[in-house]
Amino acid sequence: MKTIVFALPGNEELAGSLTAILQAETGEATFKRFPDGESYVRILSDVREKKVVLVCTLHLPDQKLLPLYFVAKTVRELGAAHICLVAPYLAYMRQDKQFNPGEAVTSRYFAALISSIADSLVTIDPHLHRYHHMHQLYNIPATALHAAPTLANYIKQHILQPLLVGPDEESIQWVSEVADLANAPYLILNKTRLGDREVQVTQPEISAYPNHTPVLVDDIISTARTMIETVQQLKKLTTTPPVCIGVHAVFAEGAYEALQQVGAASIITSNTIPHPSNKIKVDNMLAKAIQDIKP
Ligand code: R5P
Repeated sequence: MKTIVFALPGNEELAGSLTAILQAETGEATFKRFPDGESYVRILSDVREKKVVLVCTLHLPDQKLLPLYFVAKTVRELGAAHICLVAPYLAYMRQDKQFNPGEAVTSRYFAALISSIADSLVTIDPHLHRYHHMHQLYNIPATALHAAPTLANYIKQHILQPLLVGPDEESIQWVSEVADLANAPYLILNKTRLGDREVQVTQPEISAYPNHTPVLVDDIISTARTMIETVQQLKKLTTTPPVCIGVHAVFAEGAYEALQQVGAASIITSNTIPHPSNKIKVDNMLAKAIQDIKP
């Protein structure tokens, strides 16, 4: 079956790279917004009986979801044999529980919506916390890839004597794997979230690692408060500036600049979300996962 790759707006670079690796066809489409804010979508390529790959990373999801929905519905009507959504960053994974009465558990509703428009999903390090497997949320085949090996390679190649630091208990799943692959020690801190932009992080016990470079590793950097608090704790204990590594460069407004100012040696992310801090590429692992999907 032939594969055709469409880039949703903002995903052109990754989609181009995946098309090249997969030796697939480039999907031609027109996207625009009408003056009243509504979306216009037109599919120009022939998608009949093809595996249609829609590349759409899902940070800022509210504004992306409708165009994505319209594209998926259109290619379905035009005869696509299979629709694979490639969303390297998958949104709405953190609201996975009702913390207060009446709250929407949006991770479930979002998953139901995506499952209704695509036949398969490929993503990277989705924030699985209270849910442990994608099939608990998604009722289409959903491949959750791990950036850990690529992060570990980056660390091995660029950082001497790294000491990995995970800012909270949830981070143990990726930090321990990266540490293992990078042959580095790691510490996990405790974090208390006091509000959307307010966290407290415990002081790391780094006295056993006097010559190491602290490397903070987290899945998402959003407000960057988690990283900033951790950097500030480290600054009380060592003069070696830490390296901050996040898989997903969500970076809410002003967050990247705030993290730059706190004094990290560098801020490194993967290209699951296009951002100037992207240094780690996930293209090959995504391409392989797309290839492995047999409609
Ligand atoms: C937490 O649950 C995640 O693993 C990250 O630690 C969190 O999303 C980071 O958020 P922020 O950058 O807003 O502190």
